[in-house]
Amino acid sequence: MKEIRTERTILKELRPEDVTQTYADALNDPEVVMWTEARFSRWSLDKARDYVAENGIEKGSLLIGIFIKGKDGSEKHIGNIRFSSFAKNHNRCYVGIMVFDRAEWGKGYASEALKAAVKYAFKELKLHKIIADYYAINKSSGKVFEKCGFRKEADLKGQFFIEGRYVDGVGVAIINPSERSSKK
Ligand SMILES: CC(C)(COP(=O)(O)OP(=O)(O)OC[C@H]1O[C@@H](n2cnc3c(N)ncnc32)[C@H](O)[C@@H]1OP(=O)(O)O)[C@@H](O)C(=O)NCCC(=O)NCCS
Repeated sequence: MKEIRTERTILKELRPEDVTQTYADALNDPEVVMWTEARFSRWSLDKARDYVAENGIEKGSLLIGIFIKGKDGSEKHIGNIRFSSFAKNHNRCYVGIMVFDRAEWGKGYASEALKAAVKYAFKELKLHKIIADYYAINKSSGKVFEKCGFRKEADLKGQFFIEGRYVDGVGVAIINPSERSSKK
């Protein structure tokens, strides 16, 4: 993919060499991964690099790194957006987002980056619909999707297993806004 620049973020396909020890350590931080699938693994630098290498549009997913400009002008990797589960016959896919750098939470980076990534996916991957789900308790996630134009489609009862019990999720989606009608 071509690099995307928003007002404050730089989005580019993540490469194994972008993975730092800071990122691998964050994946082992329960507060960061509490509501993500990453919490089911123990992460080392090599494992995180292998995970990044397993992605790629030809392999069925697109892993985009979210970078911001650091104080010294260098680019700092703070999170990821991943498009996956491409349903080619329906022009649909799934998206997930994580800002793993806790110091950067609440600054609007997730919303800014997701908005641009979704626009890119609709235009370049010619998608009709992008879906996501999140833990109902994860209010900031809900806010991010809402700010990016996703609408609630479903209450997902007992969707996730966490700390010995099943908790509810919320299913959200966005239809390509450039389509005049959802029928192709
Ligand atoms: C969820 C996550 C992506 C949000 O990233 P972020 O960069 O902090 O998000 P933003 O700053 O763009 O937006 C967060 C919004 O949620 C709001 N928010 C935060 N906590 C909230 C709460 N408890 N209740 C309601 N809203 C809340 C913020 O005020 C902000 O809204 P605003 O811009 O209108 O003020 C990030 O915290 C994260 O990656 N967490 C760990 C992994 C995760 O949960 N991923 C999501 C899986 S679906």
